[in-house]
Amino acid sequence: MTAPILVFDSGVGGLSVLGPIRALLPGLGIVYAADNAGFPYGTKSEAEIAARVPALLGRLVERYRPQLVVIACNTASTIALAHVRAALDLPIVGTVPAVKPAAERSRTRVIGVLGTAATVRQPYVDRLSAEFASDCLVLRHGSARLVTLAEAKLAGETVTAADVAPELRGLTDQPGGDRLDMVALACTHFPLLAAELAAAAPQPLGFVDGGAGIARRVAHLLGAATGQGVPLPGRAVFTRADPHVDALAPALKGFGLDSTEIL
Ligand code: DGL
Repeated sequence: MTAPILVFDSGVGGLSVLGPIRALLPGLGIVYAADNAGFPYGTKSEAEIAARVPALLGRLVERYRPQLVVIACNTASTIALAHVRAALDLPIVGTVPAVKPAAERSRTRVIGVLGTAATVRQPYVDRLSAEFASDCLVLRHGSARLVTLAEAKLAGETVTAADVAPELRGLTDQPGGDRLDMVALACTHFPLLAAELAAAAPQPLGFVDGGAGIARRVAHLLGAATGQGVPLPGRAVFTRADPHVDALAPALKGFGLDSTEIL
């Protein structure tokens, strides 16, 4: 049997990346790791993330021996990807804010980057904007609230368009925001709220994220080592036992994660 891949996030956000990976590579063994003891990442400092993520991934790799790691978290990727690659000797796929596809699809040339506060302030976003969206006005908004709402939704709570609407206004209320037509969902939690965000849009908005591109990248890197096409039961690993983890079990099952353990 081929080794699993490890999909990593602070919480359930990485499921928005796991979904496309499973759709493309159904026979792949999956270990989904959520650092709920360190959640949320988006309000932490660069130094905290840069210290925490490589060390934790080192422990996870030692324990589960994956053939590849997906950092399914924009915050961890934009801050710690280079540190993780330097520390671990296996392929690491990061999550890049979807500025390029947003710019490609924008007709008005006003795009938004909706991520965590930590992600939207990264120089990485400046570089992506300069390289792929130099003729666009790039508006940014950091939202911790959407991260909390995505966790609540997957734990079975009701989340409505009215709950997410103020976060979109964080973009549309900025100068030029009335012309915004594309939004890069630059936090992996946010595609889990795609329906609510679409329903809350105060003007026609398209949303893009990196999930499908990451799945294609994983398929490319693994080549033949992608299993037999038979869906395998995956496992979820959390860094702290917590009632929220129990509440997530039905949603995790929906993503093929049949068992849960604590690191
Ligand atoms: N899902 C993560 C991201 O893509 C971060 C959420 C958080 O822990 O704040 O940025």
